[in-house]
Amino acid sequence: MTKISDLRKSYERAELGEDASHANPLQQFDQWLHEAISAEIPEPNAMTLATVGSDLRPSSRVVLIKGYDERGIVWYSNYESRKGRELAGNPYAALQFHWVELERVVRIEGCFEKTSAEESDVYYASRPLDSRIGAWASPQSQVIANRGVLVANAAKYAAQYLMQPPRPPHWGGFRLVPDRWEFWQGRRSRLHDRLRYTQGSDGTWLRERLAP
Ligand SMILES: Cc1cc2nc3c(=O)[nH]c(=O)nc-3n(C[C@H](O)[C@H](O)[C@H](O)COP(=O)(O)O)c2cc1C
Repeated sequence: MTKISDLRKSYERAELGEDASHANPLQQFDQWLHEAISAEIPEPNAMTLATVGSDLRPSSRVVLIKGYDERGIVWYSNYESRKGRELAGNPYAALQFHWVELERVVRIEGCFEKTSAEESDVYYASRPLDSRIGAWASPQSQVIANRGVLVANAAKYAAQYLMQPPRPPHWGGFRLVPDRWEFWQGRRSRLHDRLRYTQGSDGTWLRERLAP
């Protein structure tokens, strides 16, 4: 049987140099995300979101990116979930993409804000009906007695709202406004490339190389 301590891989696919990278991290992210999509890797839009609760314990979970621009990175969830409550108390959060096949990681840090109600409404309306009902049916992160609770909730809200459920008030968009990015490209002999971007008070981005 394989010993997990013997599992290792040499990263040799690509490199990330100062000259070949964008001065603006959003452009670098846009390029890498499109390369991940073009490479047809599974769920290139999945990212790990880390938050910290009022007890100072960090927690993390996977969410899907649904939009990004100069304002930040957007995903959708339940504002009363564990992540929603933690972000309401402490808006600092971190996101991480790991595109295994490309030997790449992107880390993004910053502050959370809610998207506007209009933005949330537009995205909610674009979701399949069962997902829209699901947002009503699931008291996300709460203890429930059994799976039957979800099934019964879904049936109840489907009957109540038919084809037109409104967006639940507890469900909507989350935006991380980044002030720090890191792009990691695996390299041979563990001498990986890491470029970190930090935003100065004048809005410009400082790009620095970190030791791997
Ligand atoms: C690939 C993948 C994508 C997911 N995307 C989302 C998402 O966009 N929004 C969401 O609320 N939960 C999503 N989930 C479920 C979360 O990982 C998590 O279980 C849920 O949000 C509850 O987290 P919390 O209790 O820490 O708030 C996803 C899970 C996986 C595996």
